[in-house]
Amino acid sequence: MKEELAINGGEKTLSKEFNWPIFDQSDIDVVQEVARSGNWGNPDCLGLVQQFEKQFASYCGSKYAMTCVNGSVALRLALISCGVRPGDEVIVPPYTFIATASIVLEANCVPVFVDIDPDTYNLDPAEIEKAITPKTKAIIPVHFAGQACDMDAIMKLAGKHDLRVIEDAAHAHGGEYKGKKLGSIGDAGCFSFQSSKNLTSGEGGIVVTDDEELFDMMNSLRNVGRVKGGQWYEHHNLGCNYRITQFQAALLSEQLNRLENQTQKRNENGIYLNDLLNKIDGISPLTRGHGETLHTYHIYIFKYDKTKFSGLSKREFAEMLAAEGVPSFMGYPEPLYKQPLFQEKNFMCYAIPDDVDYTKVCCPETEKACYEDAVWIMQNVMLGTKQDMESIAEAILKIQKAAIE
Ligand SMILES: Cc1ncc(COP(=O)(O)O)c(C=O)c1O
Repeated sequence: MKEELAINGGEKTLSKEFNWPIFDQSDIDVVQEVARSGNWGNPDCLGLVQQFEKQFASYCGSKYAMTCVNGSVALRLALISCGVRPGDEVIVPPYTFIATASIVLEANCVPVFVDIDPDTYNLDPAEIEKAITPKTKAIIPVHFAGQACDMDAIMKLAGKHDLRVIEDAAHAHGGEYKGKKLGSIGDAGCFSFQSSKNLTSGEGGIVVTDDEELFDMMNSLRNVGRVKGGQWYEHHNLGCNYRITQFQAALLSEQLNRLENQTQKRNENGIYLNDLLNKIDGISPLTRGHGETLHTYHIYIFKYDKTKFSGLSKREFAEMLAAEGVPSFMGYPEPLYKQPLFQEKNFMCYAIPDDVDYTKVCCPETEKACYEDAVWIMQNVMLGTKQDMESIAEAILKIQKAAIE
């Protein structure tokens, strides 16, 4: 049986390629049109860029949207524009991409890591409350993998303690919480358009908000400190050039037309795959029913219990599954606070208080997710057929059978 595993030269369970990004002639046409027009840049933040921003704001049910070069810059401009001061504390989860926390340092603020809920891998509101101090100024909840955070609880805490909420929706384009688009619930919602994301132009980012003052400041910061009605060489704020090109905007407008159907498809497949995997001893998909009305499945995550696989490590299991043709891997190898950046305080010129010490931070649920439990399957697989979902379950059962044989 062991020799039948694809990793040992046997036949793959799933032999299909899962492409990403998905595009056709219409995407090529809009990019060619921009090339022919000669209007490639975006000096005044107008034209196709502004058109896409309006389209995305309306899709999210927000008043304003501002594009910028990537999701990290989107988060940083949103945080700075909220008015944080050096030394302020910002609550972030440790189970996320580095940018969620590193942009806090880049704003001369202190990331405070709060553990995740093991059922959803999102910030646990009970833990947030314990971490709030007089220095806390903002919370950055990440809708991890496209699963909505408990936004009612987070907004309630923010109201009680006068905190700003910046949603990190880099995984969550089109996702919903109680019928509201993710990103549109807090003070600002930030998205990434990097290559792997559910809406992409290769690179890029956007912030949505209903707050005009916040929007005007972010706009100024992405456009070298210029202000509405000001002159070209008149700079009021410490910004930079973070503008995207017309090529990106044209592609994004075209891609946005596909997003809703794709999100519905991933959501349906996710529910179906949950049913299939819940039947396998030792495999537990993250739970639903925490307010998400549409899950984007940027990542499909399930928990792996090696004791039901004869002690096969998570890494080996994920490699075997990938060999079977299911694009999967073990996810983050460790919590963010374990990265050399935090452990060695490699904060360079940034003004981070001396007494900050990440060597004693411990978030047990995040450590369990990284070291033992979490296995990831990427979003393009979730655009497959029902048969593909069945093949994923089949591949896992094949590995389990070989392991316990
Ligand atoms: C949760 C999360 N936040 C922020 C970002 C940053 O986005 P970008 O890579 O566009 O800067 C990413 C990107 O992978 C992400 O996964």
